[in-house]
Amino acid sequence: MRAAVLAVALVLCGVADCARFARPASGRPGAHTCQELYFEQPQDHFGAHTGTYKQRYLLNDTWWRPGGPILFYAGNEGAVEVYADWMGLMWEQAPTLGAALVFAEHRYWGKSQPFGTHSVSIDPTALSVEQALADYASLADHLRCARPSPVIAVGGSYGGMLAAWLRKRYRHIFVGALAASAPVGAFVDPSRRGGFDPSAYWAVVSRAAGPASGAAVGSVDNTARLFRLLFELGRGQEGRDALAAAFRSCSPLQDEATVQTLAYWVQGAFDAFAMGNYHFPSWYIAGSPRAPLPAWPLRAACVLLGGSPAGPAALLEGMKAAVDVLYNATRSRPCHKIELTGPAGGPGLQTYLYLWCTEAMPQELPFFPARGPPHDMFWNQESFNASRWEAECKAQWGVRPRWRHLLRKFGGAAPAAWRDVTNIVWTNGELDPWHVGGVLHSISGSSVALQVGRGAHHVDLMWSRMDDPRQLQAVRQEQVAHMRRWV
Ligand SMILES: *[C@@H]1O[C@H](CO)[C@@H](O)[C@H](O)[C@H]1NC(C)=O
Ligand SMILES: *[C@@H]1O[C@H](CO)[C@@H](O)[C@H](O)[C@H]1NC(C)=O
Ligand SMILES: *[C@@H]1O[C@H](CO)[C@@H](O)[C@H](O)[C@H]1NC(C)=O
Repeated sequence: MRAAVLAVALVLCGVADCARFARPASGRPGAHTCQELYFEQPQDHFGAHTGTYKQRYLLNDTWWRPGGPILFYAGNEGAVEVYADWMGLMWEQAPTLGAALVFAEHRYWGKSQPFGTHSVSIDPTALSVEQALADYASLADHLRCARPSPVIAVGGSYGGMLAAWLRKRYRHIFVGALAASAPVGAFVDPSRRGGFDPSAYWAVVSRAAGPASGAAVGSVDNTARLFRLLFELGRGQEGRDALAAAFRSCSPLQDEATVQTLAYWVQGAFDAFAMGNYHFPSWYIAGSPRAPLPAWPLRAACVLLGGSPAGPAALLEGMKAAVDVLYNATRSRPCHKIELTGPAGGPGLQTYLYLWCTEAMPQELPFFPARGPPHDMFWNQESFNASRWEAECKAQWGVRPRWRHLLRKFGGAAPAAWRDVTNIVWTNGELDPWHVGGVLHSISGSSVALQVGRGAHHVDLMWSRMDDPRQLQAVRQEQVAHMRRWV
């Protein structure tokens, strides 16, 4: 759930630095304290291709003792190092659980390329959720044979969806799953009403930008006002010149389409702030290793926007300062490239978007339409238009999204789909916009949903800190208690 420049989706390199791939600065363990190993996998578990490829995984078995579990991180859309570096919960629990740690890399990302470097541009046809799950099941099966151990799937975001689905689909291999911020129900289904409402995502982002998260009073109203102003100015060239100057665009805004791109670009910053609204400085979601987002980035941005209704000039200035918390985090950008990549914009081949274009894997920007006030603080982006995205996907990849495919296969977030699946802990951050597609209510005594108040995107999997809220500490304790029960 990401695209390059317009900070998109579940995981995102919001800015060009693609900062997530950098190491945490401290002396913490991470990818650099793992062995880098490769496991031979079929290019295609289900047919068409007959070759094999080498899937990368990172292993640390220092603390493993016989009978101890393998904590298996089901890698999501990125090179695997980032997960090894940030998933502190696994590292912190390994010694007491006697666990081996495995971080598996998702095919088509990082060094796990079925058809050579940047496989997606060579042949994307072996990229699917099912292939990734089959890779993980084979790897886990291989590992537990070498080192007889119960395997626990762990994942955050798309990785959390994979962890839950591994437990559901391969429960003889995975004894349980920590599914953190896993929006297993976030599938738009154009054929039916009453299903997942993609606009709900932006309502949470807007709620998180107000007093609910401790952000400044007035910032939500001012943001909504800003978008109105932006489109108003965008109608004439003089106004567009003023916008380009206010936001320090590298190139002029020549037409209304570029103003629309500017609006999405601003929206993208708030998306990143909301997901990455951790109570500590972090560049996991966005930002730069040289300049992580501050603690509570949404507050940091909103304080620049709050206060009483501002005049147009002050509004533009405030918003420019607010988005700079992300886009100019390094304080070294000479100007802003205001662009939207992916199917909606440029020709960039983005691996995740292939999953959107084939299996409708959730991707919020620009696919989930906001509605505008009073529903949210953005603007009315009209309802979800399946034919538009079908045309875009056909043009870019020659494929068509199968909207209901994964819903049919795994049942979304419906309790009925999970009632007979034991040993899952579902965690969600109350102010993480992705929780709208998650499992929010416990399904049984061993399929348990926990919420983190004011929590951001899978904050529970991150390194613990002295200043962690009590409730977050309690959630982690429960996760660990469940893992102990499973093994
Ligand atoms: C596992 O991580 C620990 C902590 O960083 C480190 O001391 C140890 O050498 C690592 N083990 C392996 C096998 O890499
Ligand atoms: C980024 O911040 C630096 C330092 O404050 C400033 O000089 C520069 O103009 C800013 N860039 C943009 C695009 O606003
Ligand atoms: C949906 O998108 C298609 C293709 O871009 C367009 O022709 C159609 O008018 C759109 N429908 C609505 C309701 O906006």
